Amino acid sequence: MLKGKTVLLGVTGSIAAYKIAGLASMLVKQHADVTVLMTQNATNFINPITFETLTGNKCLIDTFDRNFQYSVEHVSLAKRADVVLVAPASANVIGKIANGIADDMLTTTVMACANRCPILVAPAMNTNMYENPIVQDNLQKLRRFGYTVIEPDSGYLACGDTGRGKMPSEQVLFDWIQKEIACEKDLHGLRVVVTAGATAEKIDPVRFITNHSTGKMGCAVAKRAMLRGATVTLVCGRMTVEPPPFVTVVPAESAAEMFEAVKSAAESADIVVKAAAVADYRPKTVAAEKMKKQDGDLTLALERTTDILAYLGAHKKTGQTLCGFAMETENLLENAAGKLRRKNLDLIVANSLRTPGAGFGVDTNVVTLLTADGAETLPLLSKEETADRILDRIVELRKEDKA
Ligand code: CTP
Repeated sequence: MLKGKTVLLGVTGSIAAYKIAGLASMLVKQHADVTVLMTQNATNFINPITFETLTGNKCLIDTFDRNFQYSVEHVSLAKRADVVLVAPASANVIGKIANGIADDMLTTTVMACANRCPILVAPAMNTNMYENPIVQDNLQKLRRFGYTVIEPDSGYLACGDTGRGKMPSEQVLFDWIQKEIACEKDLHGLRVVVTAGATAEKIDPVRFITNHSTGKMGCAVAKRAMLRGATVTLVCGRMTVEPPPFVTVVPAESAAEMFEAVKSAAESADIVVKAAAVADYRPKTVAAEKMKKQDGDLTLALERTTDILAYLGAHKKTGQTLCGFAMETENLLENAAGKLRRKNLDLIVANSLRTPGAGFGVDTNVVTLLTADGAETLPLLSKEETADRILDRIVELRKEDKA
């Protein structure tokens, strides 16, 4: 996903420096071209050879190294960089960058990158140092100049204290980099609402009715929309997967809660994608106490829930694109086409539970995209690739709408 992208990692003197080896490796596996710049102090914590082995690129420390590939290495690096992450960022380096001091390879390169590419800074230090008003003031100054400060975690620190100042995990730093540079930002400025997972309808305080949805497909749509630059709200029922980072998560347990959450989020949405498996019926009454078993059978009276998608279709805002899902076990295309018309949708994603590789819990899907103009059946793809194809179709529909 990061093929052709150049990532600069600035490592300063902090015990958290060792984590950057894992991060460099994750980035290289995604085919990024990674160069690590270290302060002299950082070399006390991790050997430059570690980074050189992992990235295949020379680790840069000394501005006046005469073995550089280019004569003004920091400037040529800055010209190629797609993103810079300074992590762990010590109080000292934060202070230097915020106050225009560039006295080594790392700080001169960061200075040369300003206004060329995004610069992320992940502070890591003792809580007292982190909370020092001078450090906070310097971080504020960086934010003012457009740098992104990645907030440190709270936890056990190397000095033995517990508090704020812990550098986030490699995965979190990777997510930040990915958000900045992965894929074209063709959804920038758009608000996207996605629903995912299964609703649960209470029978009594211990029992409920639900379905097999895991939330994988909806989360894939939310993640790809976020990476493509959209502001994403994910309204989710029960899920077995973690929601993607950088999306606003609104939990909704029942169909009624999901209806309220989606209705309000959709007010200002440009695009709504309804991947959640919503209950069509709920118990007519919810028992206040646990229902005790009786001799003989039990019949539960069920009542209809509101069809959220039909409501959205009936109240569609000008310029809003509405995408539904249809999971069927028979007559896939006829049923899906019926839902497209009845619910006033722009697009419906149809899949059959009978197709191998499609459906609940798996990482792949086989879907047909139906619009008023026709149907396109996609091959077996990962759920993330499927999500991209759905979003591609939505982008096309919005362009056609404008034209
Ligand atoms: N949906 C919804 N609200 C409901 C039920 C379904 O918003 N109460 C949405 C789902 O999120 C999905 C689409 O409607 O995007 C299709 O769901 P599905 O259960 O396949 O279809 P139904 O319209 O409920 O039709 P049927 O039960 O006849 O298959």
